[in-house]
Amino acid sequence: MTIYGEDANFCGGSGHIPVLCREVISSLSCGQKGVFVDCTFGSGGHSKAILESNRENRVIALDKDTDAVESAKAVKNAYRERFSIVKAGFETLGDILSSLKISRVNGFVFDLGMSSLQLDSTSRGFSFRFDSELDMRFDKSRGETAADFLNGADEKELLRVFSSYGEEPRSLAIARAVITYRKKSPLKTTKDLVLLIERIKGPKRNKIHPATKIFQALRMYVNNELENLKTGLKQAFHYLETEGRIAVISFHSLEDRIVKQYFAYLSKKCICPPGQPICTCNKEEEALTFKLIKPAEEEIKNNPRSRSAKLRIVEKINKTGGKNAA
Ligand SMILES: C[S@@+](CC[C@H](N)C(=O)[O-])C[C@H]1O[C@@H](n2cnc3c(N)ncnc32)[C@H](O)[C@@H]1O
Repeated sequence: MTIYGEDANFCGGSGHIPVLCREVISSLSCGQKGVFVDCTFGSGGHSKAILESNRENRVIALDKDTDAVESAKAVKNAYRERFSIVKAGFETLGDILSSLKISRVNGFVFDLGMSSLQLDSTSRGFSFRFDSELDMRFDKSRGETAADFLNGADEKELLRVFSSYGEEPRSLAIARAVITYRKKSPLKTTKDLVLLIERIKGPKRNKIHPATKIFQALRMYVNNELENLKTGLKQAFHYLETEGRIAVISFHSLEDRIVKQYFAYLSKKCICPPGQPICTCNKEEEALTFKLIKPAEEEIKNNPRSRSAKLRIVEKINKTGGKNAA
């Protein structure tokens, strides 16, 4: 397997170009026939590139978002039995794969966060660019919305979410302002929230909008993104074929930290306390990790949203044998 090889010729074309597509296709060796899982279908860019890379590739795609699943109908029509779409979260990957009777997968791709469709939607509440209901759920059919959280949580909980997921320095002031605001009426729309944040942080002065961190924190909380990532990665590794790979694209340091730490754990031969003379941990899994990949300048120029993307790859190896990292 190579990083950047001939496999990566299917990411061009017109329309939606997925982030780090060539790098994903190449590092998962999609040119060799296999079963692949696209854990975050979105607009299907990675799925389509995998399907195009080898005429015998099979892709199982997951997404929580009904709109994404709807849009997958066109891919289903084009690739028929080689492609399946399931409306589900990747934290339930194990159940999905076992219900499809798939026991081994050659490659997984996770392209985390929200899709351009979601970010550009005028009604989903993901963006402060449009006035809409404060929803922010990937799966509109279940769970608490951002408005439910803002109108129900106490100050401590608001502060925890704003500071831990958003790393917002004015978290406490914003949490207090939310509590004061909702004494009069509930926060309903993105505009209500943006105005509240602007009263504390001031209006937009540079490239970064003052509401960016709070919106990010709310999205991560509402969708339980960090916990789901941990669960999804473990399940993916369990189903991974020996010499198969997982590719994860993250856009946020908290996500990247989870991926990095889990891959580092996988790459350890033994997790016994240091100095213990005989290994007793019997750690079963083992893996190779590869150098972090970031988008090339050209990609960032063509798609500015890719600028903060980080791609990490892990490969499952046979504990008794194994290959050397590229
Ligand atoms: C960045 S987009 C993926 C873009 C896609 N790779 C493409 O080329 O169009 C992320 C997608 O993952 C979905 N998503 C986020 N968390 C998920 C989860 N836990 N399980 C399944 N889908 C999820 C979102 O609904 C969104 O559609």
